[in-house]
Amino acid sequence: MSKIIIANWKMAPDSVSAAENLLLNYLKILKESKAELVIIPPFVYLSSLKIKYKNIKCGAQDFFWINRLNEYHFTGEISVKMLKNLGVSYAIAGHSERRKYLNETNEMVNKKMIAGLEAGLKMILCVGEDLLVRKRGKEAVEFFIKEQLDKCLEGISDNPKIKMTNLIIAYEPVWSIGTGQADTAEDAQEVIHFIKNIFDLKFSIPNIKVLYGGSVDGKNINNFVKYNEIDGFLVGGASLKIGEIKKIIEASADSL
Ligand code: PGA
Repeated sequence: MSKIIIANWKMAPDSVSAAENLLLNYLKILKESKAELVIIPPFVYLSSLKIKYKNIKCGAQDFFWINRLNEYHFTGEISVKMLKNLGVSYAIAGHSERRKYLNETNEMVNKKMIAGLEAGLKMILCVGEDLLVRKRGKEAVEFFIKEQLDKCLEGISDNPKIKMTNLIIAYEPVWSIGTGQADTAEDAQEVIHFIKNIFDLKFSIPNIKVLYGGSVDGKNINNFVKYNEIDGFLVGGASLKIGEIKKIIEASADSL
């Protein structure tokens, strides 16, 4: 099974020329690799890159859930329709940085999940516990993750407009994001196994894709790719360093 790599550029780089340069470097690596890569640049680069490089698979870091034609009064927001019309096929929801710094709640994430999935976007839902929860042990982590999944996915499995195959989960322990302190592959795999079990038992979806995210880099990638249950990676900081992302792409392709 091929591993998916989601390159979340977050709030970088600082100019459109640097973004294009980064993309060109990615394209060089991809020429020699079979890896499945999705680029998630900031909005200001998303349209220019997608228009110029039509074949790149790309996604949005966020969008607003209101989508009806007469509801355009949301200064600063981006709609699902805009993304779809641009040819964007993926979007992230529930990233911990948005939860933490912009007070995004599970209820808001749920609205985004519904809007994105109804429109046919492949939605990457981020879930993960903070350090306090992790320190309380395995049961506390599982309880926390299950609650996030329940709340963020409310009303989704029985929505006739939604294809559950468009749903991807990213398990990202909050304490490992942007800290250089990745989870161990063993622990990440255990939580991912737990998430897959929930989908199997609750929704009869045994093959839900679950990614790991949190300080994945060129060095630790080899620990993670060994696990078949980890379907890919959500990579932030390392996706901006071409040497690092090259190693991640190569290791993920080697594991096919
Ligand atoms: P990181 O970010 O790889 O810099 O830890 C992961 C993410 O974007 O969630």
